[in-house]
Order: sequence, then structure tokens, then C-alpha cells
Amino acid sequence: MNTVPSQHQRVLSGMRPTGKLHLGHYHGVLKNWVQLQHEYDCFFFVADWHALTTEYDNTGIIANSVWDMVIDWLAAGVNPGSAKIFIQSQVPEHAELHLLLSMMTPLGWLERVPTYKDQQEKLKEKDLATYGFLGYPLLQSADILTYKSGLVPVGEDQVVHIELTREIARRFNHLYGREPGFEEKAEAAVKKMGKKNAKLYKELRKKYQEQGEDEALKTARALLESQQNITLSDRERLFGFLEGGGRIILPEPQPLLTKASKMPGLDGQKMSKSYGNTIGLREVPAEVEKKLRTMPTDPARVRKTDPGDPQNCPVWQLHEVYSTDEVKGWAQQGCRSAGIGCIDCKQPIIDEVLKEQAPMRERAEEYTNNQNLVRSIINEGAEQAREVARKTLEEVRQSMGLEYR
Ligand code: TRP
Ligand code: SF4
Repeated sequence: MNTVPSQHQRVLSGMRPTGKLHLGHYHGVLKNWVQLQHEYDCFFFVADWHALTTEYDNTGIIANSVWDMVIDWLAAGVNPGSAKIFIQSQVPEHAELHLLLSMMTPLGWLERVPTYKDQQEKLKEKDLATYGFLGYPLLQSADILTYKSGLVPVGEDQVVHIELTREIARRFNHLYGREPGFEEKAEAAVKKMGKKNAKLYKELRKKYQEQGEDEALKTARALLESQQNITLSDRERLFGFLEGGGRIILPEPQPLLTKASKMPGLDGQKMSKSYGNTIGLREVPAEVEKKLRTMPTDPARVRKTDPGDPQNCPVWQLHEVYSTDEVKGWAQQGCRSAGIGCIDCKQPIIDEVLKEQAPMRERAEEYTNNQNLVRSIINEGAEQAREVARKTLEEVRQSMGLEYR
């Protein structure tokens, strides 16, 4: 498995700054982040270097979107008191790890990532036959491994990137975790645990390696977790030694799959900037109301007296997101019997969307009126992130033999 349990408590995710966020982002991603921040040690970052891979000829949009996006996150309830919020380019360790990993990443691994060809096809108007674009999944691997994150909340489409990250981590550990004298160092580390624990570790290791007992592996890991007296490197050796490999310097992450967001846009397709069917996260109420009032309905309802079918209506999909069973029953019945008009039908949705946005708008206002506060949140986030990132890179350099002291 090649993992280190304590890292499972660390969650990392990023988002590209390419425009204002909408309710699709809220329902699909941010609501989940807000939940996670209470359960895990969360790192959320603005992926400005990732945005460059497709917007290198239009960098203005990145700079403008960064601050809006951070305010959108804060508005949605991401709390800088529990999660670390930062900008990727302010933690240069991401770039260093990306470079180091690039040396041992086979080209084929990157060429075979399905999003590579897909995105090139999709964004035909852009020249994406670049070095940076090919390497972007590796940059994502570097993002994740810089924090030794155990869990990465992503959508279905990004799972292949996590899989790539796992392969990269495995390759790295295989190449550089096999330091000279590994066995001897591991044996010495076992002794440092004290007589009783050392004996227990050896027994559990044997049980796992000879009888494949998963329980023994679990117990042994818990034992290692609880050791106060051993160094980080020794701990990594002992985790690796337990499973019969080398030192685990970069643990393999797991995807934390977010359910595909069903957030429909104003036309019934998935809400997305490219379809022009969005409601902004903190769009002004009058505009939200207008958008919903004018959104299309079942084309069969030309007049109010024509009955309709909610299955043919994008408004119904919004009821599925926002309405109680009672309201949904009322809409179904009223639509099919032509008992209600479409504007009547939309009103409860308008109310719910505005209610959802009210606290976000309020929080956002506090931050838009106080840019210094936002900047200090980001500065502090970068400090916290760098503290972890620096440690990882020291270890990475050391294991590669790049420490010249
Ligand atoms: N590639 C992700 C996207 O396009 C964003 C991202 C960059 C990311 N680095 C990450 C997500 C690390 C999770 C973890 O949506
Ligand atoms: Fe759509 Fe409601 Fe109008 Fe029926 S009554 S067509 S569900 S908006």
C-alpha cells in the first residue's frame, strides 16, 4: 500500500482562478470543503500556475480572478481559522518538487493521461502543444506530494491525476527510499523504540509479512504513530520496513470522491461558464431574480392554460436541488393541471436561492471592504503552507543526495 496513516488526516485541493465562481462551484466543491475543514487538516490553494497552462497568453484574467476567488471561498464559509488558504505561486516548493519529479517521470505516463488529448481537442483555438501543458498533471502531483496529503477531494474527471500521483510517489520511493544500508538503519530504528515496543513491532511485522495479516499491519502502524522518541526519517523507514519496501518519503494519496454535482444551469445543462447558464455565487439579488424569471420552461406551456410536464422543464431540476417534497408535489401537480403559472412555480426557487446567497453576500462584503484582511489571510496561509512544504523538500533533496552541506 505504501502509505503513512498520519498523512490521511491531511487534505489538499486546488482550484484554477479563471473567472468568478458560480453556484455550480458552490454545490459541487465549496460546500464539501466547508465540511472537510472541520474533519481534517485542510490546505486549499489558488492554482495560479495551473491556470497559466491554458491562459499563458491572457494572464490578466488570472490576476483579476485570484482575489475574487479567495473572497468567494471565504464567502462560502471556508474558514481561515481551520483551513490554510494560499496561492500556489507563493509557495515555490511546488515548482521545485515539480522539477525534481520531472526528471524521473516517463514521458509516456504524461502522454497517456486522458485529459491531455481531451483538453487539447476541446480547446482547439489555443495552442496547447506546450511543455507546461503536458506537464500539468505532474504539477498537480507535486502539489499533492509537497504536503504528503493523504486525501484529495476531486471530481470523477480528476481521479486519473491522483492515480498518476500514486505511481509517481511509488517510483520516487523506489528510486530514493532504498538508501544504502536501509536494513541496518531500520533495525537500529526498531531498537530505539524500546524493548517492549521493538518486540511487538517485530512480531507484528512477521505476522504481516509471513501470514499477510492486515490486522497486524494496522496495529503495527498504530504503534509507530504513537512513538514519541523516534525521528521522522526513522518513522518512514519503519513504515517501509514493515511492508517490505524502502523508506516511504512520499506517501501515496487517495482520491476523496465528491459526488458529481447535479447543479443544473439556467438551461437545464450542467451549470458552467462555457454554457453561459450560470448564477454567480454572490450575484446581486435583482439580477438573480431576473435570470430565474426569464429562464426557459416546458415549451409545451405556451399559454398559462396549457398543461406542462416538469420532466421537460429546467426549472424542475432546480426544484430537485432546492425544494421540499411538499413544494415539489405542489409544482408537479400545478404544472400538469395548468393550475399554476410558471412564474408562480419559480417563486419558491427564487426565494431559496436568495436565502442561500444572503449569508455569502454578507460575508463577502466584509472582505471586499477590507482587502488588507484578505491579503493577511493569504500571507498567513502561505507561511503555514511553506512550513510543511520546506520540510518535505528538505527530505526530498536529502534522499536524492542533493544536500550540499
Ligand atoms: N487540476 C485541478 C483542476 O483543474 C486543480 C488542481 C491543481 C488540484 N492542483 C491540485 C486539485 C491538487 C486537487 C489537488 O480542477
Ligand atoms: Fe416548468 Fe414549473 Fe412551468 Fe411546469 S410550471 S413548465 S415545472 S416552470
